[in-house]
Amino acid sequence: MHTASDSGGRHLRWPTRGISFGGDYNPEQWPEEVWQRDVELMREACVDFATVGVFSWARLQPTPDTWDFGWLDRVLDLLHDGGVRVDLATATASPPPWLTTAHPEVRPVDERGYRYEIGSRQTWSPSSPIYRDRSLVLVEKMATRYGGHPALALWHVSNELGCHNSRCYSPDSARAFRRWLQRRYGDLTELNRAWGTTFWSQHYSDWNEVVPPAASTTFGNPTHLLDWRRFCSDALLDQYLAEREVLRRITPDIPVTTNFMVGMGSPQSLAGDMNYAQWAPEQDLVSTDHYLVGPATGDGATHHRLSFSADLTRGIAGSRPWLLMEHSTSAVNWQPVNRAKTPGEMLRNSLAHVARGADGIAFFQFRASDAGAEKFHSALVPHAGTDSARWREVVQLGAVLRRLEPVAGSRVEAPVGVLFDWESQWACEQDGHPSRLMQPMAIAERAHHAFSGVTCDVIPADADLSRYADLSRYAVVVVPAVYLCSDEDAARIEAAARAGAQVLVTAFSGIADRDDHIRLGGYPGAFRDLLGVRTEEFFPLGADETVALDDGTAARIWTEYLTVSEDVEVLARHTEGHLQGVPALTRRPVGDGAAWYLATVPDTQSWTRIAEAICAAAGLDLHAGQHADVEIVRRRGENGSWLFVLNHTTEKVTVEVSGTDLVTERVVDGPLTLEPGSCAVIREDSADTGARTRKADA
Ligand code: GAL
Repeated sequence: MHTASDSGGRHLRWPTRGISFGGDYNPEQWPEEVWQRDVELMREACVDFATVGVFSWARLQPTPDTWDFGWLDRVLDLLHDGGVRVDLATATASPPPWLTTAHPEVRPVDERGYRYEIGSRQTWSPSSPIYRDRSLVLVEKMATRYGGHPALALWHVSNELGCHNSRCYSPDSARAFRRWLQRRYGDLTELNRAWGTTFWSQHYSDWNEVVPPAASTTFGNPTHLLDWRRFCSDALLDQYLAEREVLRRITPDIPVTTNFMVGMGSPQSLAGDMNYAQWAPEQDLVSTDHYLVGPATGDGATHHRLSFSADLTRGIAGSRPWLLMEHSTSAVNWQPVNRAKTPGEMLRNSLAHVARGADGIAFFQFRASDAGAEKFHSALVPHAGTDSARWREVVQLGAVLRRLEPVAGSRVEAPVGVLFDWESQWACEQDGHPSRLMQPMAIAERAHHAFSGVTCDVIPADADLSRYADLSRYAVVVVPAVYLCSDEDAARIEAAARAGAQVLVTAFSGIADRDDHIRLGGYPGAFRDLLGVRTEEFFPLGADETVALDDGTAARIWTEYLTVSEDVEVLARHTEGHLQGVPALTRRPVGDGAAWYLATVPDTQSWTRIAEAICAAAGLDLHAGQHADVEIVRRRGENGSWLFVLNHTTEKVTVEVSGTDLVTERVVDGPLTLEPGSCAVIREDSADTGARTRKADA
């Protein structure tokens, strides 16, 4: 059985057969005569999955004492008759104006004390007891009314929890923060120790003195700030757990999820405010939203960022299949300039997610709105209607996904594990560090990019690595600027090297413990012995500065004064400046493997060269003849194996494969030429057939 979850002895079904396909469906925006037509169109496009009710609290409960479920009853019946499985929202995402008018204290407060006005969405404080109480009344009503409806396949708690309201500095939040700290530390002595409050006369002698780190004179206390980020994530997770508890009590057999925003960040934070590594184990199935941000080509190209985010989603899902709850058929409407997708790009994006473990592809939203804040956002049914290239591509995507049904439940093969740690990223977003340019998530993305010729898992390095992955299964383990590291995780990383992995540690890893206290005696404290290196001082570089190493690397962002022990091989040294002759890339044999240290941030070409050397040492062929912008990923399951080949280039490429291409339904045995921007999913005759690509004209 294709399961959503088998944790805790609960065997819950995946919402649909095969790969789910659909999106947010907001019929409340349209008169009822449109609904029947919508369901006909869903059938035409093979849509079998719809998220309903996300923003309908005000419609369901128009006043404090009145409820209106009739319209939603009819929507669910219609969808069920049309064969569409429903991901039913708890509808708590946006409280109605009557609630936030009667109880202004529900609305979140920013770091300067301004209480947000109503008029947008998600205007609620994660720590508001009134919001919690009223939202759970709604969840109870939804679960009781629809728990037995045959269309119900999945519960969708709230929506993108924390998208706009993750940091609230209200009095409710201050009280909840203190309670959270009391649970973490027990007493003020322990809090004062962890926060290092002897510095700058910050010693606390009464719990009421402890407040959220709102705007102040200058830099805040680093551990106070880090705990605040931990608390903010936990406060939102608490809302999820409270809603889930109601749902599980009433409908124990229906899986529960909430849609994450993995890799999307926020205006304030590269990694965002929610530590999804801690949220994921609470989901019956992990779902996430992903929108393209950034340039279409080049180093930060959107398809590289998409693959990093998809691999990280699979990482937090413990390698199990996950669901892409939202992406866009074409342009979004929230960037300064909203680029429409080129022909074939939507299919390519969708298949990239499936290649990396998604067993469901859904979009915001089914029918493009004619009013409201998102009226210019693309949809499955565009403003132009069904006589449009966009709709024809949607119908084509539905047909392709239907042919991929046997892929569902299979697993992605990845010989390289790249670690990523939310808390390290949060710590490095603070002031008072050696360089603002040293951002762990950006470094992890660069490392992932360098190894993209072989598939990478992105593994959360959150407090206990062993919770997510057994490092011994990787030929290569990359530790990219994992700044905070526990002794236990450092030992796990070392054990992986001893057991035979090539372990690459990059600059600014293992610098501090989980309280953000520096590990003394020379950097990088947690990995000094493993690597056989010792750094006395960092010498960060300016944004446009580079320095040359003797292996041709252009070193950026970071350099350091490093000495090495006798058993360390120096692979690159500085050629100029006061660090001339100082090692920057080293390798030390450890057990059956090795520990490499990269003391800088290389340019793209050099990154690739370093990845090549490491892969060679691990017995992996990084490129397998592959073009850098041709994505090749294999999923393997009980029913066989599938090779996804996505041509992101503007040239034809030729791939050597053997099997049936499920996109074109053609049998291939030998060279397959892919047009610019096109894709193939090969049901392989033999999974041992490696893929070899070249430019068609080469
Ligand atoms: C998501 C959100 C959707 C819609 C979409 C637009 O953040 O969950 O409701 O706003 O973005 O791209």
